Amino acid sequence: MPMSQPLAASLERVRFPVASSATLPPEVYRCTDIATAETNAIFRKHWIGIGRADRVKAPGDFATLDIAGVPIIIVRAANGALHAHANTCRHRGALLKSGDGNCKRLVCPFHAWTYSLDGQLIGAPSMDQTAGFEKSDFPLVSFQTAERDGFAFICMDDNAQDIDVWLGGFSSMHRPWNLEGHVSTYRTEFEVACNWKTFLEVFNEYYHLPYVHPDSIDSVYKRPDAADDVSGNFTTQFGETEGTGGLLETQQDQALPTNPGLEGRNRYGTRYTWIYPNMTFAAGTEGTWIYETLPVTPNRCRVGMTVTFPKETTETDGFDEKSKIYIERMHAAVDEDIPMLEQQQIGLTSPFARQGRFCEALEPSVANFACWYADQIRNANAAV
Ligand code: FES
Ligand SMILES: [Fe+2]
Repeated sequence: MPMSQPLAASLERVRFPVASSATLPPEVYRCTDIATAETNAIFRKHWIGIGRADRVKAPGDFATLDIAGVPIIIVRAANGALHAHANTCRHRGALLKSGDGNCKRLVCPFHAWTYSLDGQLIGAPSMDQTAGFEKSDFPLVSFQTAERDGFAFICMDDNAQDIDVWLGGFSSMHRPWNLEGHVSTYRTEFEVACNWKTFLEVFNEYYHLPYVHPDSIDSVYKRPDAADDVSGNFTTQFGETEGTGGLLETQQDQALPTNPGLEGRNRYGTRYTWIYPNMTFAAGTEGTWIYETLPVTPNRCRVGMTVTFPKETTETDGFDEKSKIYIERMHAAVDEDIPMLEQQQIGLTSPFARQGRFCEALEPSVANFACWYADQIRNANAAV
């Protein structure tokens, strides 16, 4: 998409340093042309977060998802490898699976072409009478996968950067939380009538807390540190809390044990991290809460929400009951954010919506993402 002059000029204003950067222009939250540019420049090009790797844990566990218009199956093979396949049969294109579940092989519901979990075609009824047909010529189209610190990623571009180059200092920054050793105890998915970016933005800023969460979580959060200087495609900001960020103000006496790996200030605060482009989480005192978003349309996104705790914590007395209180808190906060996000989306569709400015102390991660995003769209355009 050749970029219009006004859009190019708007993206130029989204620049480091954050202190003088403009917000992203409203068009990027509503235009189908820009959504197409995002698909090509971001979703089919970079590593995309798909939540926690244990969403498909046992051999044969599978889940289906749609990454910017590409239906995908993720599946755990018997040898433990995570595979991601284009969810489209090599015969005449039918979806192989929907929803999630467990299977020994992937059988197309249309004419029963059958694939191993690693994507090889192993059965094709009656095709032995078809001249020149070789099953080995028709494996599923597969994509790269990676698992780091318990998170799972897919990349549709074989020429993309190595995942460890992409993530840079991510693992070392989060080592104190031992995220690899966490287990998911809750996952749900839902849709929100907002752009995929705004859902991630609101999760990564403290500015809205007194206005959107005045009686639920605002008083838990102290003024945060500055965002960290990082190498890699993520942004992160730590802030101390009064009690735990994982619980509502009224339920602070229900806290689970502190993550055993944490020391010093990390025991008394929450690290909010956004792995570009689409996955974010809070590494809290006891556990983590994680969201990944994927675009449905420019005005709508699908969100996956996961809660994890260190394995040791899940084995403590009363864990099941107490962990429910954390899940309640996550839903309570999101239920306060969603009406705000949906009315923000309506405001962003106004022809008179304009670029704004960031609050340097309270929105640095949102500003960092905006700079990263503007670069992706600019660079893709420069390459046309
Ligand atoms: S479309 Fe899958 S077997 Fe025919
Ligand atoms: Fe919020």
